[in-house]
Amino acid sequence: MTTPGPHGAAVTRVNGPLVEVTGLRHVAMSDVVELGPRGLPGEAVAVRGDVTTVQAYDYTGGLAPGHPARTRGEPLSAPLGPHLLGGIFDGLLRPLAGAPAWLEPGVTAVSGADREFTFRPAVAAGVEVTGGTTLGTVPTAGGIGYRVLVPPGLSGPVGDIRASGPVPSDGVVATVGGTPVHLTSAWPVREPRPYRERRDSDTPLITGQRVIDLLFPVTKGGATAVPGGFGTGKTVLLQQITKWCDADVIVYVGCGERGNELADMLDELAGLTDPRTGGPLADRTVVIANTSNMPMMAREASIYTAATVAEHFRDMGLDAVVIADSTSRWAEALREFASRSGELPAEEGYPASLSSALAAFYERAGCVTTAEGSHGSVTIIGAVSPAGGDMTEPVTTYTQRFVRCLWSLDRDLAYARHYPAVSWAGSFSRDDDVVAAWYADHDDPGWLERRSRLAMLLAEADRLGSLAELMGVSALPAPERATILAGRLVREGLLQQSALSPLDASCDSARAAALADAVLAVTDRCQQLARGGVPAAAIEETDFGPILRAREEAGSPADVAARERAMLARLDQLSQQADIPAGQDSSAEPDSAPAPDSAAEQDSAA
Ligand SMILES: Nc1ncnc2c1ncn2[C@@H]1O[C@H](COP(=O)(O)OP(=O)(O)O)[C@@H](O)[C@H]1O
Ligand SMILES: [Mg+2]
Repeated sequence: MTTPGPHGAAVTRVNGPLVEVTGLRHVAMSDVVELGPRGLPGEAVAVRGDVTTVQAYDYTGGLAPGHPARTRGEPLSAPLGPHLLGGIFDGLLRPLAGAPAWLEPGVTAVSGADREFTFRPAVAAGVEVTGGTTLGTVPTAGGIGYRVLVPPGLSGPVGDIRASGPVPSDGVVATVGGTPVHLTSAWPVREPRPYRERRDSDTPLITGQRVIDLLFPVTKGGATAVPGGFGTGKTVLLQQITKWCDADVIVYVGCGERGNELADMLDELAGLTDPRTGGPLADRTVVIANTSNMPMMAREASIYTAATVAEHFRDMGLDAVVIADSTSRWAEALREFASRSGELPAEEGYPASLSSALAAFYERAGCVTTAEGSHGSVTIIGAVSPAGGDMTEPVTTYTQRFVRCLWSLDRDLAYARHYPAVSWAGSFSRDDDVVAAWYADHDDPGWLERRSRLAMLLAEADRLGSLAELMGVSALPAPERATILAGRLVREGLLQQSALSPLDASCDSARAAALADAVLAVTDRCQQLARGGVPAAAIEETDFGPILRAREEAGSPADVAARERAMLARLDQLSQQADIPAGQDSSAEPDSAPAPDSAAEQDSAA
C-alpha cells in the first residue's frame, strides 16, 4: 500500500486521457475524480486496491505525477434546468461561452449559469407530492411549457413554495418533505431517468424530409441509425431534421466532427424562425459540442449527457429528439482509451464493451407515461460513418441491432447529387404499420398504399433499369420502358429534396402526400399510354418539367394538384396524336403496371 501524501491521493501516471491515481479512499467505480491543481474532471473506470484508473475528460497537458487528486464521491451528473434551452454546452454539459471559444484548442470556456428565470408556482404549500409532480412552470423563450418537477425519489408535503416571480438558475423553488428543490437539479448521465411506464410508440416524428416521411418513417420514441460514407450527406440530413422536425426539443450532439460545420449550423439556426412561436428556432434546441478539436474523451460522455437532457424534457410530457453526429467518432474515443489502458481489444481495436455501450445509448429512446400521466418521448437519431463505407464494421453492425429504422446513405446516389442520398434498397423502417395507422386516424388513409406503390415502383424500375443497361432500352416493351421512366419521376420529382431550396428544404405531410400522389398519377397515365399503343419514345420525350419542378415551385397541395392536371393534359395530347382515346388500355397483362388503372382514371376525372 502506498501511503497517501499530504493531500491524500496523488496522480502517479499520465498517459493521454488515462490517469492513474494512488491513495484515493472511498472511491467507487464511475465516481468523478478531480485531477491536479485545476481539478480536471475524470471518471473512475477501474479500481484495483489502492490504484484507481481515471478517464480524464479534459486535456491532461500539464498534469504530472505527484499532483493531488480527490473524488467527488458521486457519478458524473448533468445539471438540468431551463438554462439548457437555446444553449451550447460541452460533453459534460458545461456551458460554452460561444462558438469562437470552443473552436480554440484546449479552451473549455464556461459562461455563467447565473441567469434568472420566471417561476410560476403550480401547487400550494401543504399539498402532498411525489417524484415527477409539477411544482411550477417557467415561461421559456421556446414556448414549450417548461415544468419544474419534484425530483425522482422525493416525496412529502410541499413546505415553502416560491411566489410567482424571478428566480436564479441555482435558486430554490420549494421544499418537499423538508428537502429544498432547486430550479436546476443534477442527474447522473449514465442512469436512465425513471418513468411510470413505457408505452408503445404510435406517432410518427415528421422530419420534413419526404424520403423518410413517405418511405422510412421513424416514430416519436423510436431509434434510427444513419450510416453513410464520407460526403454522403449525413450531417446535412441530420441538420435538416434538427431544424424542421416536429419535436418539442432537439438535443444536437456534434461529436468529433468538424467545428466549422457546427459553427455554420449554429449561425443558420440563429437565423431561423420557429413556425410555432415566431421566435428563434434555436430557443428549442440544446447543442452539445464536442468537435474534433476538443478533448476526445468528453465525446464518450456526451451521448449519455444528451440522452439525460432529452429525458429531462420527456418527463415534462414533451417530445424530445437526440441527434448524434457521429457515433463513429464517439466509438473512436472508446477505442483510443481502450488501447491506452492495454485492454485486450475485440474487433478492430474496439473494446469488448462497444456493443453494450451502444445499447445503453439507443435503449434510452422510448415513449413513456410520466408520473403525472402525460406522454413524453425520446427519439434517437445517430449517424454512423463506417470507414470506407464498410457496412460490416463493428459500430455499424452493432448499431443495427438496437434501432428500428435505418436510413442508409448511398455513395452512388450522393455522387449523382441525388440528395438526400437515402437508399430505398438499403433502408428500412419497422414502424410502417404503426405510422400507417396514425395517418389513417389523421386524414390520410392512403399513406400505406402510397408507400407500397412507391417502394414497388422504385424496386421495379431499378430491376428494369439494370436489364436495360444489359440489353439496351429499345429491347424492352413500352410498358416496361414506362416503368423505368416512372422510377425516374419518383426519384427526381419526389425523393430528391435540396437542403438549399427556399421552398423545399422542409416539406410538410400534406404537401408530401400531394407531390407523391401527383407523381403517381402521372406515372399511371404514362403506363396507360404505353399499354394503349403510344410509342415509348413519344412518352419518354415528353417534357415532364411541370411535375419535376413541382417540388421546388409548388408551395401548397393545391399548387401541386394544378401541376398534376397540366401534366396529365399534356400526356393526353399524346394519345390524341396517336389517335387513342385517353385512358384506354389495350393490354391484357394484369401485372405489368404497379397500380390499378381505375384508381388513376378516377383521380384524373376528379
Ligand atoms: N439534402 C441536401 N441538399 C443539398 N446538398 C446536399 C444535401 N445533402 C448533402 N449535400 C451536399 O453534400 C455535401 C456533403 O454532405 P455532408 O452532410 O457534409 O456529408 P457527411 O456528413 O456524410 O460527410 C454537402 O456539403 C452538400 O454540398
Ligand atoms: Mg458529416
